[in-house]
Amino acid sequence: MRKPASDDVCIRFDHASVERSGRLIWSDGTFSIPGGSVTAIVGTNGTGKTTMMKTELGLLPLSNGRVEVLGQPAGQANDRIGYVPQSYTSDIDSNLTAEQSVLLGLTGTRFGIHPVNRQDKERAAGAMRFVGVEDRAHARLSQLSGGLRQRVAIAQALVCNPKLLMLDEPLANLDLASQRATVHLLAQLNRQLGMTIQVVAHDLNMLLPILTGAVYLLDGHPHYARMDDVLDSDLLTHLYGTKVEVVTTPQGDMFVAPDTDVSDGVAHDRFKTTEMVDLHPRHPEAGEAYENPTANQQD
Ligand SMILES: Nc1ncnc2c1ncn2[C@@H]1O[C@H](COP(=O)(O)OP(=O)(O)OP(=O)(O)O)[C@@H](O)[C@H]1O
Ligand SMILES: [Mg+2]
Repeated sequence: MRKPASDDVCIRFDHASVERSGRLIWSDGTFSIPGGSVTAIVGTNGTGKTTMMKTELGLLPLSNGRVEVLGQPAGQANDRIGYVPQSYTSDIDSNLTAEQSVLLGLTGTRFGIHPVNRQDKERAAGAMRFVGVEDRAHARLSQLSGGLRQRVAIAQALVCNPKLLMLDEPLANLDLASQRATVHLLAQLNRQLGMTIQVVAHDLNMLLPILTGAVYLLDGHPHYARMDDVLDSDLLTHLYGTKVEVVTTPQGDMFVAPDTDVSDGVAHDRFKTTEMVDLHPRHPEAGEAYENPTANQQD
C-alpha cells in the first residue's frame, strides 16, 4: 500500500462545521491529511465538496471549529496553493490566450499594476511544458478543446509552484483518454514534485491508482479514511462505491485496484493492473528522478 511521501500534516480539520445561507452543510469534521498525499473528496451532488475546498481556501467562514492548511489558518497560505475550480471552462474568459491565462496564476492579484516580466514568462512556459501545452501558448482558449483547456487551467494553478494542488472535479466532461492523461499528470506532480493533491471526484475508478485516501461526505459529516488503513476489499468496495481489490506488487507494495472484469468487451474507465503499478506513487527516497520545471525560477 502506498504511503504518502511525508508525514507532515498538510490539512487539519478540527470539529469544523460550515453553514451557507443559515443552513448547515456539514458538521464536526475532525481529521488530518498528510503532506505528499493524494486525497479524493467524495459525496453526492450538493453534499458540500466544493464548499469544503472553499473553506480550505478561507473563502467561506466556518460556523464552528478550525481548518488549518500548510500550518496556517485557512486562507493564509493561499500563495502556496494551486486551485482549479469546478467548471473552469465556462467561467474562464475564452478570448485570453493560453499563455495569458497561465500568467494570471502569477499576476492574478496584481494584474494591471505589475507588468509581466521575462521571469514570469519563463515560469509560465515551464508550467505549460509540464502539462504539455507549450505549443499552444498563443492559441486562444476558445480554440482549444476541453481537455487542453483543462491542462491550461492546471498550468495556471501550477505556475506559482504550489505545495498543495486542489482540483474540483477535474475529470468531469473529459473523454476517457483525457481523463487518463489527467491522472498521469497528477501522478507525475505528486511523484516528481512531491505535491500534495486534493481532488473532488464522483467516480473513483480512474483515480484509484494514485489515491492515498479519501474524505467522504456522508450523513452530513466529513469522514477521512487512509487507503492503507483500509485493506479489506469488501469495506473498500463499500466505501468507494466501486469494485475494489487489494493487490501486492512485486515491490511488496500493497495497493488497491478496481476489478478487471472485461466480460462486456467494452472499453472501460479503468487502468490495467500493470498501469496501476506504474502510476502508483512511491517514496521520494526510492530514487525517483526529480525535475521541477518551476523550482529554479522562484523569486
Ligand atoms: N452561494 C451559495 N449560497 C448558499 N448556499 C449555497 C451556495 N452555493 C452552494 N450552496 C449550497 O451548499 C450546498 C453544498 O454545495 P456545494 O457546491 O459545496 O456542493 P457539491 O458537493 O460541490 O455539489 P456538486 O457535486 O453539485 O458540485 C448545496 O446544498 C448548495 O445548495
Ligand atoms: Mg461542487
